[in-house]
Amino acid sequence: MKNVITTDLERCRELLRQDQPVAIPTETVYGLAANIYSESAVKKIFEIKGRPRFNPLIVHVHGIDQMTSLTKELPRNAVKLAEQFWPGPLTLILPKQDSVSDLITAGKETVGIRMPNHELTLRLLKGLNFPLAAPSANPFTRVSPTSAQHVADYFGDAVTVLDGGPCTVGLESTIVGFEGETPVVYRKGGITIEAIEQCVGPVKLRLENEKAPEAPGMLFKHYSPRTTLVLTNDVEKALSKIDNQKVGVLSFYKDAYPGATIVKALSKTRDLEEAAQKLFDALHELDTAGLDMIIAERLPEEGLGITINDRLERAKN
Ligand code: TXA
Ligand code: MG
Repeated sequence: MKNVITTDLERCRELLRQDQPVAIPTETVYGLAANIYSESAVKKIFEIKGRPRFNPLIVHVHGIDQMTSLTKELPRNAVKLAEQFWPGPLTLILPKQDSVSDLITAGKETVGIRMPNHELTLRLLKGLNFPLAAPSANPFTRVSPTSAQHVADYFGDAVTVLDGGPCTVGLESTIVGFEGETPVVYRKGGITIEAIEQCVGPVKLRLENEKAPEAPGMLFKHYSPRTTLVLTNDVEKALSKIDNQKVGVLSFYKDAYPGATIVKALSKTRDLEEAAQKLFDALHELDTAGLDMIIAERLPEEGLGITINDRLERAKN
């Protein structure tokens, strides 16, 4: 393979200026980035990912000022949320200016925008005179990448990857839109709903499934390994039903189960932030271990455990 993983910021900027996509690190997952004003570069993102055109892209900015060059009137609560959580795992859905193309928004009048909390990517953005559209850097429906190597494993020579180390949050951003001043959550993510509510009061949930969802990241089958994955509250019971198969267990904190070929514990100290950070990496590892089946344990339905369970539910196949 060519030298696709790099830490050379200027090389990445040059590729982006020449309408080439580049994979970028963020605190949530790696993104496959392109100049939002280059139709050919944005089309390449859809082609490389095999992503349907009805699924809009998130625009990454280096600050609130850059956001306001893309949006029309802003709800006060949008500014409040940006001030509290940016840079960080929060995407705001806002009324767009005409300069943001239909290709990015899939024809919607709104655009999703976030400021990622990653030092290297913020430096990259500050050295460019355009924002970056970036979906997660995985083929459509597959497990999101949380390291440069995950991206290289998926796309080989086709994409240069800016290496910013492993993602620190490990779950995609929480997506919040507005009806007037009322916040509407479209996707659970790296910031909990409690934290959003503490900032701007009660939210509406609009977590749509299947068919044409408001946020197609919520398509039911998503984040999926190739290996069959079942989700359970009781790993031992699920294991007891299986004979003669190579089974991997994705557990919350226990690192040994009789009868399992491999066990990946997400956090031996039962820390939900650590579990979130390790989730996709553990799924990638189990998916390449030649197993017949993955048994995943449901986490406590609290804090980031709620987002982790959402992703595991969608990873079932
Ligand atoms: O953490 C993240 O958000 C990562 C990193 C790379 O920033 N990005 C990410 O992008 O998860 P992607 O494309 O995998 O998911 C974007 C989600 C999709 O569910 C899409 O439907 C939704 O954002 N979205 C984007 N623009 C939207 C809009 N105008 N209205 C509703 N949903 C929108
Ligand atoms: Mg995605």
